[in-house]
Amino acid sequence: MTRTLLAGAALLALTAGASAQTVGFSQIGSESGWRAAETTLTRQQAEERGYTLQFSDAQQRQENQIAAIRSFVAQGVDAILLAPVVATGWDSVLQEAKEAEIPVVLLDRQVDSSDDLYLTAVGSDLVHEGQVAGEWLVGEVGDAECRVVELQGTTGSSPAIDRAQGFRNALEGKANLEIVRSQTGDFTRAGGKSVMESFLQAEGGGQNICALYAHNDDMAIGAIQAIKEAGLKPGEDIKIVSIDAVPDIFQAMAAGEANATVELTPNMAGPAFDALEAFWENGTQPEKFIQTESRLYTQADDPAAEYEARKDLGY
Ligand code: AHR
Repeated sequence: MTRTLLAGAALLALTAGASAQTVGFSQIGSESGWRAAETTLTRQQAEERGYTLQFSDAQQRQENQIAAIRSFVAQGVDAILLAPVVATGWDSVLQEAKEAEIPVVLLDRQVDSSDDLYLTAVGSDLVHEGQVAGEWLVGEVGDAECRVVELQGTTGSSPAIDRAQGFRNALEGKANLEIVRSQTGDFTRAGGKSVMESFLQAEGGGQNICALYAHNDDMAIGAIQAIKEAGLKPGEDIKIVSIDAVPDIFQAMAAGEANATVELTPNMAGPAFDALEAFWENGTQPEKFIQTESRLYTQADDPAAEYEARKDLGY
């Protein structure tokens, strides 16, 4: 029944022409440079493809996202992009979109709802990202004793859950590496700085910290500031590994103040719109997960050049 309805919706869309489509985008907010780039690229992609993009900034609040989705449904948009701030609590509103025959594509974060409730999800393997960061640190410290502090992302968000897990997977069985403190910095620079200040204070002014793992670069950049203010050298006295590969972390790496980052592409909209166009055209059902690539960058990867290559991309 649902398949028939969706195929009918696809045919209607075909008649209208993909370029006339209106897409609602419920974005989380603007907590990080990476998030800003995702927003910029989504706007650009929509414009290039001739869509009307209805943009809604949820300011980090799930209730705002739910209200935005309901408003998109009421307007009868042709598709909804949702970057879900947290993983739980989406069943009802996704069901409402499904009943209205509006395909929903998840961007960059996952939900714990049934995958029947959305068309597809575009994102990276978030556990893998954490694991790559952890493996880098394991290789970097060798057999040395290393007390690690962790700045987690937004509590209840899939990247915070999965990046924590992946990092722990990499440290499994490494008795010389211990996560001694872990707290959320909410994916923001200000959060990263203030939580790092409390870690430094609690750990002998930072003397007892060997490494920082931050779930995103923005928190690492805030922490770098705190480490400098505490009179230590980030990247040397405290090794720093984080995730996203935003331009500013490459600048910090070029200055020797950060050590490694795992890339998360901000171009989630490209694959999302490709999947939607195929769906609108003839009802093609994409894979339920469209995975983007992630790779590790270290100080050996010419961070100054990486900064130059990315600095005007909307971060
Ligand atoms: O969901 C992706 C994460 O959200 C990015 O790593 C982070 O910077 C953002 O806020």
